[in-house]
Amino acid sequence: MARLYWEDENVMTDKPQKTASLTLDGKTYELPVISPTAGPDVIDIRKLYAQANVFTYDPGFTSTAACDSTITFIDGDLGELLHRGYPIDQLASKSHYLEVCFLLLYGHLPEAGELETFESLVTNHTMLHEQMVHLFRGFRRDAHPMAIMTGVVGAMSAFYHDSTDINDPHQREVASIRLIAKMPTIAAMAFKYTVGQPFVYPRNDIDYASNFLRMCFAVPAEDYEVNPILARAMDRIFTLHADHEQNASTSTVRLASSSGANPFACIAAGIACLWGPAHGGANQACLEMLNEIGTVDRIPEFIARAKDKNDPFRLMGFGHRVYKNIDPRAKVLKESADEVLELLGVENNPILQVAKELEAAALADPYFAEKKLFPNVDFYSGIILEAMGFPTSMFTPIFALSRTVGWISQWKEMISDPAMKIGRPRQLYCGEVARDYVDIENR
Ligand code: SDX
Repeated sequence: MARLYWEDENVMTDKPQKTASLTLDGKTYELPVISPTAGPDVIDIRKLYAQANVFTYDPGFTSTAACDSTITFIDGDLGELLHRGYPIDQLASKSHYLEVCFLLLYGHLPEAGELETFESLVTNHTMLHEQMVHLFRGFRRDAHPMAIMTGVVGAMSAFYHDSTDINDPHQREVASIRLIAKMPTIAAMAFKYTVGQPFVYPRNDIDYASNFLRMCFAVPAEDYEVNPILARAMDRIFTLHADHEQNASTSTVRLASSSGANPFACIAAGIACLWGPAHGGANQACLEMLNEIGTVDRIPEFIARAKDKNDPFRLMGFGHRVYKNIDPRAKVLKESADEVLELLGVENNPILQVAKELEAAALADPYFAEKKLFPNVDFYSGIILEAMGFPTSMFTPIFALSRTVGWISQWKEMISDPAMKIGRPRQLYCGEVARDYVDIENR
C-alpha cells in the first residue's frame, strides 16, 4: 500500500516537510503537514495531546481525516468520485460490479484470467450454511429486512469460524469472498421471508446481478427468466453504491474492526449504521417522501417545509456532507431511471415526474443553492428499484449488499496496516467535577 508522507509513526521520508504552527498559552507547536496525492493537506496532530495537553474538537468529523487510504477519492466541490483513480461514471458505463469489487479489493483492474478466477470464486460461495436458514424463522414475518440482515450477517461468525482470524491473510481473503458472495443470498432470503415465499437458492450458471433478481422474484410455481435490462440496471446500482470513502457506515466498520473483532460482526455493525435515514436509509425515506408528495402541485408545500427551521422535515435524497455539487452517482442514476423506466414501459411514472420537478424546484430555490444542497445517490435509486418490483423496505438492503465490498476493502486496508491502532476518541467533558456521595436521607 502506498504510504503517505510518514513511513510510520517515527520515520520520516526525506521529502521537504511543511508544518503548521499552533500557539497556545504563549508556547508554539510545529505540527507536521502531510500532503496527499489528491485533496486537502492534513495537519498531523497525533502528538498534539502529548506535547500540548489539549484535544482537538470535531464532533461530526467535518474537518477530520480519520485514516489514510488509497481506495476511494471524493472531490465534493467538483462532484467527482474515483475508485482507485477510475471515475465512477466510466466504471458505471464500462465495467461491472464484480470487476469493480476486484478493483476495490486489490487496487488494479483485473486481467482476463484474474477476473475469471475471482468471479468463479464468488459464484461458488453464494450458498449459505444450510443451518442458517433456520435463523430467519426466528423473526416475525413483518420484520424489516435490514433487521434480518443485521442479525444473520452477525451470526455468520458462528458458522464460518475458519475465516474469523483477522491476523491470518488467508482467512481475511476467505471472509472477504464469503461476504461478497453471500450478501445477495441473505438479502434475497430476508425479502422472501417477509413476503411469505419459499427461499430460492443461487445458481452458478448466471451472473451476480441476475442471481440476485432470480432469488428475489422467482417462485416454484413457474419459470423465471431474468430480464437482461433489469440485470444490467441492477448491476449498475450495485456498482454505484460499492464504496464511498469514510462515510458513517464505513467508519463504523473501521472502528469496530480496530478492536480486532471478526469481520462478520464488523460488517453487521456497518449494516446497522447504514440503516439510518440520514445515511443509507434515505433511499427508502426518499421514495416514501415522493409518494407522500404524490403530485407536482404539492411540491411547493414540501419545499417550504424543508426550509422551515421549525419543521424537522428534510428533503430526503438531498444534501451531502461532502458533495457541494451534484453527487456523480445521482447523475448516472437519473439517466438510468429514464432508460429503465422507458424500457419497462413506465416512463410516464408520475413519481419520476415528481422527482424531476422537485429537483428542478429545489435547485432553483436560493435556500438550496446557498446551502449547496443537491440530489445525492439516494434521490433516484428508489425510483428505479420500485420500477424493478422491489418494495421500499428492500432499498436499503440492496444498498448494504452493494456496499459490502467497500466495507471489506476498507477493513482489509486497515487490518493489514502494521501501524493500525484501536480507535479511541476522547471528549470535551462538560459534566460535574468530582463531588462526594450524599446519603438519601440527606438529599
Ligand atoms: C448517504 O457520507 C456519505 O458518503 C454517505 C453516502 C454514501 O455513499 O455512503 O453518500 C450515502 O448517506 C447519502 C445521504 C443520504 N441522506 C439523505 O438524503 C438525508 C437528507 N440529507 C440530510 O439529512 C443531510 O444533507 C446529510 C445528513 C446528508 C448531511 O448532513 P450534514 O453534512 O451534517 O449537513 P447539515 O445537517 O449540517 O446541513 C447543513 C444545512 C443545515 O441548515 P443550517 O442548520 O445550516 O441552517 O443544510 C440543511 C440543514 O438544515 N440541510 C437540509 C438538507 N440537508 C441539509 N435542508 C433540507 N433538506 C435537506 N435534505
